[in-house]
Amino acid sequence: MQSFALDTIFILISLSSLSIVVSSSKPLNPCNGDFLRIQAYKQMQNQTNTTQCKKLSSLQAQFAWNYHKTSHNQTQLNILIGTKLIASTGWLAWGINPDLPRMVGTRAIIAVKVPNQITPSVNTYNITKDIQLGCKLQPSGIDFMVQNTTVVDDKDVGFFYVFATLVLPQRYNVSSLNHVWQVGYCVDGLEPKMHEASLGNLDSKEVLDLETGDCQNIGQHRQHLRKVKSKLL
Ligand SMILES: *[C@@H]1O[C@H](CO)[C@@H](O)[C@H](O)[C@H]1NC(C)=O
Ligand SMILES: *[C@@H]1O[C@H](CO)[C@@H](O)[C@H](O)[C@H]1NC(C)=O
Ligand SMILES: *[C@@H]1O[C@H](CO)[C@@H](O)[C@H](O)[C@H]1NC(C)=O
Ligand SMILES: *[C@@H]1O[C@H](CO)[C@@H](O)[C@H](O)[C@H]1NC(C)=O
Ligand SMILES: *[C@@H]1O[C@H](CO)[C@@H](O)[C@H](O)[C@H]1NC(C)=O
Ligand SMILES: *[C@@H]1O[C@H](CO)[C@@H](O)[C@H](O)[C@H]1NC(C)=O
Repeated sequence: MQSFALDTIFILISLSSLSIVVSSSKPLNPCNGDFLRIQAYKQMQNQTNTTQCKKLSSLQAQFAWNYHKTSHNQTQLNILIGTKLIASTGWLAWGINPDLPRMVGTRAIIAVKVPNQITPSVNTYNITKDIQLGCKLQPSGIDFMVQNTTVVDDKDVGFFYVFATLVLPQRYNVSSLNHVWQVGYCVDGLEPKMHEASLGNLDSKEVLDLETGDCQNIGQHRQHLRKVKSKLL
């Protein structure tokens, strides 16, 4: 009897929090700690007082950005993505998807680090369906301009990070930008190999409003929904 009541209460709480999670977007969770010491972050802040910075929901990643509209209705977007997870070998990817918040279709910037390499490599990659089907992921052009790309393995600060300036066509909506990030520990030349399938790796995508910093975390929605469903069934 008591346990039934508890279960019912749990389900009711789950359902009410579910509706909150799904219907509302999450406010910005500000960056903290060592990320604020990154030189590129300080420069971004120096450039414009509109720079925003948030802790991402997974992979110990933090993300800073600022942007402005150009005279051609494009968006010039500066981004800085960093993680503490990469030690001697690995890769850090960040990208945006014009259609959906998911990996396939993402236009990515990927930094690859191997031991004894003085400067890590950084390139653009177009992540097509073929990649998911097992084709090699090699550097390629993507359909917008990427400039000022910088990758730094900052041992002092403890972050591996990438800075870049993107010139985005109108197709990318800055009020609901699908962005994804990913970390892996296995590389083959310039090819990042499969990442782990931990929850953190699967949750690493969101729809971000660049103006307010609010986001909808897609991965967590699914996870939450699955949990509630399994409780109900
Ligand atoms: C920021 O700007 C100030 C004044 O222009 C300058 O003294 C300082 O070195 C700059 N800092 C960085 C990190 O660029
Ligand atoms: C940023 O700088 C602009 C121009 O100097 C100023 O008008 C604006 O109030 C500043 N915004 C903030 C949030 O400080
Ligand atoms: C920019 O977009 C606005 C509104 O969509 C449009 O009226 C204007 O003609 C566009 N300007 C250019 C240079 O494409
Ligand atoms: C990138 O891949 C997409 C399909 O996911 C394709 O539509 C697009 O043309 C490709 N871009 C480039 C520059 O190859
Ligand atoms: C990036 O490059 C563009 C043009 O090459 C330049 O106008 C812009 O100021 C640069 N941004 C930064 C943050 O260095
Ligand atoms: C951009 O996204 C916002 C928020 O989802 C939406 O209200 C707006 O209509 C979108 N704009 C375009 C041009 O699709």
